[in-house]
Amino acid sequence: MNIRFDEQKQLFQINTEHTSYVIGIADGKYVGHVYYGRKIEDLTGIYPLLRTGEAPFVPSVNMREKCSFADTFPAEYSTSGVGDYRESCLDVRTTGGHRACELSFEGYEILEGKPALAGLPSTFAKEAGRAKTLEITCKDECIGLKAVLSYSVFEDSDALIRSVRLINEGTEKLYIEKALSACIDMDDENFEMLALTGSWARERHMTKCPVTYGRHLISSTKGESSHQEHPFLALMTEGTTQDQGEVYAMNFIYSGNFMAMAQVSQFNSVRMVMGIHPEGFEWTLNPNASFQTPEVVCVYSDEGLGKMTRTFHDLYREHLIRSPYLHKKRPILINNWEATYFDFDTEKLVAIAREAKKDGIEMLVMDDGWFGHRNNDDSSLGDWFVNEEKLPGGLKTLVDKVKAEGLAFGIWFEPEMISPDSELYRRHPEWAIQIPGRAPGMSRAQYVLDLSRPEVVDYAYECVASILRSADISYVKWDMNRQLTDIGSAYLDAHTQGELMHRYVLGVYEMQERLVTEFPDLLLENCSGGGARFDAGMLYYSPQIWCSDDTDAIERLAIQEGTALIYPLSCMGAHVSDCPNHTVGRITPFMTRGHVALAGTFGYELDITKISEGDRDAIKFQTKLYHKYHPLVREGDYYRIASYQQNHLYDCWEVVAKDRSEALVTFVQVMSEPNFKSRKIRLKGLEPKASYRLEETGDVYSGDVLMRAGFLVRRDHRDFSSRLFHFVKTEE
Ligand code: DGJ
Repeated sequence: MNIRFDEQKQLFQINTEHTSYVIGIADGKYVGHVYYGRKIEDLTGIYPLLRTGEAPFVPSVNMREKCSFADTFPAEYSTSGVGDYRESCLDVRTTGGHRACELSFEGYEILEGKPALAGLPSTFAKEAGRAKTLEITCKDECIGLKAVLSYSVFEDSDALIRSVRLINEGTEKLYIEKALSACIDMDDENFEMLALTGSWARERHMTKCPVTYGRHLISSTKGESSHQEHPFLALMTEGTTQDQGEVYAMNFIYSGNFMAMAQVSQFNSVRMVMGIHPEGFEWTLNPNASFQTPEVVCVYSDEGLGKMTRTFHDLYREHLIRSPYLHKKRPILINNWEATYFDFDTEKLVAIAREAKKDGIEMLVMDDGWFGHRNNDDSSLGDWFVNEEKLPGGLKTLVDKVKAEGLAFGIWFEPEMISPDSELYRRHPEWAIQIPGRAPGMSRAQYVLDLSRPEVVDYAYECVASILRSADISYVKWDMNRQLTDIGSAYLDAHTQGELMHRYVLGVYEMQERLVTEFPDLLLENCSGGGARFDAGMLYYSPQIWCSDDTDAIERLAIQEGTALIYPLSCMGAHVSDCPNHTVGRITPFMTRGHVALAGTFGYELDITKISEGDRDAIKFQTKLYHKYHPLVREGDYYRIASYQQNHLYDCWEVVAKDRSEALVTFVQVMSEPNFKSRKIRLKGLEPKASYRLEETGDVYSGDVLMRAGFLVRRDHRDFSSRLFHFVKTEE
């Protein structure tokens, strides 16, 4: 890791262990992108890649061509209104109503460490000496706007962290209409674009398409990162696989509206940008005030998607997730949602806890329906007091009873919401997000609280905190079950309504920050109608996030494959549920459901008092498997071996210990194949010269054999069957 500036060549070089990112200054003024890719030690001869020498595109030589220059120059941070017609990162309006901005290089600073971003989730270094940050300051003298472009790198990571701070150094207000966080301009190399797309119960499926002329947009304007499109974008050279090809990826550390775009221009350059979605966004920047954009993580890999994945996983485990549970075993939980939905009481929950204990389950989580008069989903959000008809004697009585059965206790909240049928709404209708005179759109019979109001943040936080103070509660599932519409705040004035969506996200972050500060031992799991807010922003507060409401083992293969493309397995909320599956009606073997859930946080979501003896035996077996494998799954390197999405037959993934001493391989035979005797599976990431014993058979293989020749998975003629293979390094 190193950052240096070559005064003579006017080049900044940001190095990680295997990558270089090079920025050049043209004409002492324009900050341009020169190179991003495999590490280059000696930059001799690289400057012309800024392309300033190609007449007539040199503004200082021929000012008439400034517009042409702007539209071709590989900008580090593009702006609008001065001739660059490609996607801009920054749109600013002045009090005079004009929209133009041109940033000129002013200076730079190289800092030890990685500064935190106030009020926003951000990556961090555990020790200052293990990270470096370059801050390049640019200014538009005409409007008095300063932009500080920030680039951070860590000693042990190949990721590059980018964000931008805007400061109004003028005397007039400025209106920021768009402020993205990162831009990379490259030559077009016939890239393919990889995105994560889906829907409710079908989140984060990998989707590829060619990047051709024009703009390719991935975005959310729903107020959350969303079920549908994910704040991730990768450009891949042709033929990229898990192990080969160049990949340029961006992932956003933010949980609200976002846009990510790849644009091919008339000159065959590609611009890749990411940041807060500008639709409906406007931020008033008073003189001397500043605006901080969230961080974008950039990852370059020249060893395909697999290396990109492992770079993200390690970065998030080492430099983003703060929870004390990050490296700890998570309790095996049983959640009552698919077991009872709203139809439960103390007796029922205690019965579940009692049976769960017998099979090795360690925590009961009481889901939606314990408060107000909520017997279905049309009331009571905001009324966070216990429903004593269901839980006589109150929450503490229930918690004590569950604890007496030997289980820890967890609880569900949806603190950002307000039901029209609630005492809270009757008292404070002005606390709901809505537009005066327009009937607000209803989704799941609820409105969203206006978290731009400080007293609403205080109230909602206190509701959660006072419940947590009232009993011995170890875990919170923080849910969020609708998108934002009717964007209006009774608190903000006409000029600041455009700040609501971002202020909402800042309000969520503030509440969660308070929560993890007041309850440092709490295990927090975020959730949003399944996986609509599974993003890097939320991981700063919670070490795990509920991946999807679809708990079917086969549907989960694609969901978890897409999620694990960026996020460590230790983050993926995954449970074994009952069959036929409540979402797709599929019947799968209990063991397969367990093997798929073992690739995540692991737990159960079924009525254990009603399932068969055979399934109960399977739970006893699976909880033991979890105890055996949780450190490997949580801390290891993830390798994708085969994808059911591609081959339509089977799925296979592998987790290898960091010291290469063991590997766990999960194989799911989704569709059985006629006439198929055995399938050869080639592993990855092992020590070639070491020997590995397959625990299940005692067979010994060399690492080289396992990786080059492979081992045989014998035929199982049942659809949806699965197997685990545990390879342990041996001296033989
Ligand atoms: C959506 C979540 O994803 C489910 O697990 C459950 O908690 C329900 N909400 C409760 O309303």
